Amino acid sequence: ILDAMAAAAIGYAFGSVPFGLILTRMFGAGDLRTIGSGNIGATNVLRTGRKGLAAATLLLDLLKGLAAVLLVASLWPDWAPLAALGAFLGHCFPVWLRFKGGKGVATTAGVAFALAWPVGLAYALTWIGLLATVRISSVAGMTAAVVAPLVAVALGAHDAALVLAVIAAFVLFQHRENIGRLRAGTEPRLGSGKKA
Ligand code: G3P
Repeated sequence: ILDAMAAAAIGYAFGSVPFGLILTRMFGAGDLRTIGSGNIGATNVLRTGRKGLAAATLLLDLLKGLAAVLLVASLWPDWAPLAALGAFLGHCFPVWLRFKGGKGVATTAGVAFALAWPVGLAYALTWIGLLATVRISSVAGMTAAVVAPLVAVALGAHDAALVLAVIAAFVLFQHRENIGRLRAGTEPRLGSGKKA
């Protein structure tokens, strides 16, 4: 049980590092909280106009999830799914930001790759495919999050499927404002320059 707690804590510690906020502050790109959707993720960093910082945020938010799960998997393989959940929750509810973090799309990509790489691949293809066609970040992210546990079930990765299903429910919850904007037809497309 101590191992399980350590796995969750390691996941949470990695996940709770808010790279979007850190990078935008470090490079003087303004206060993400007052820009666009106010979110700390790569999509909102892109709204500052700093493409490089947005790409770095995406990559680092993904890698922290990947690293947390791989690290825990090397210590206690059975508890890797718990580290995945910890990393996701750390990103979305970081104690450092009074539990007001991001929406978890990039971090979920990382943990999916680490739990079962074919699931990560399916997640990435869904996400990128919709980003390229629909061009609405929230739609792409939410769809990828829902697809991931289904693919995991199909592959017989039951532990990964369970944790990814819980994560998908949280991803939808974290996008409740986006869902409201989608219903109202006001959710911005990528590169539209419109503030959410
Ligand atoms: O990962 C977050 C993305 O799905 C939506 O971000 O800033 O448009 O709310 P944002």
